[in-house]
Amino acid sequence: MSEQLSPPAFDTPFFKSALSRFATGVTVITTEGLAPECEPWGLTASSFNTLSLDPPLIVWSLDKKARSLPHFLHAPSYVIHVLGASQEKMAKRFAMGPQAERFHGHPLGRAPGGTLMLEDQGLCAWFECRNVSQHETGDHYLFIGQVEHCMHTDTAPLIYHASKFALTPR
Ligand SMILES: Cc1cc2nc3c(=O)[nH]c(=O)nc-3n(C[C@H](O)[C@H](O)[C@H](O)COP(=O)(O)O)c2cc1C
Repeated sequence: MSEQLSPPAFDTPFFKSALSRFATGVTVITTEGLAPECEPWGLTASSFNTLSLDPPLIVWSLDKKARSLPHFLHAPSYVIHVLGASQEKMAKRFAMGPQAERFHGHPLGRAPGGTLMLEDQGLCAWFECRNVSQHETGDHYLFIGQVEHCMHTDTAPLIYHASKFALTPR
């Protein structure tokens, strides 16, 4: 096993590379943008995690440079879609390019509480969340959401590890 130690001076690319060894699932998070346009906004995010069961809270973080930031800061709610193993293309599409292209041709629906979401058969789960708090922390905002509705399937998940989409370990 080859092992790499952190160099003496703190090194951001090295830190990022070490963090990337933590395998995660992949989500796409959507909301309705600010008025008057109220257009769909969405991005790929792997920072999603559990926070509390009672009350039901989740957490994720959004880069301060993200174009979607003002929309998520002011959105009353959003939907977190946990992607399935067949949805690598969707993960890539929602990580780049203009918003209109990300949603182009994709059927949209509403979660039970009325939040805009993607209609897709390949998802592992989704969570409709009330946007309860946002915390400015370092170069990101930490979002805490209260889950109001959720759904899950037995679909195998899409995994992200070492900056690559990986095969599901099953
Ligand atoms: C697998 C993967 C996970 C990502 N996770 C996050 C994340 O948790 N938070 C974040 O701010 N950006 C994350 N990104 C990057 C955003 O998806 C990307 O910067 C996107 O273009 C932001 O959209 P926006 O600028 O329109 O808001 C991730 C990208 C990939 C490919």
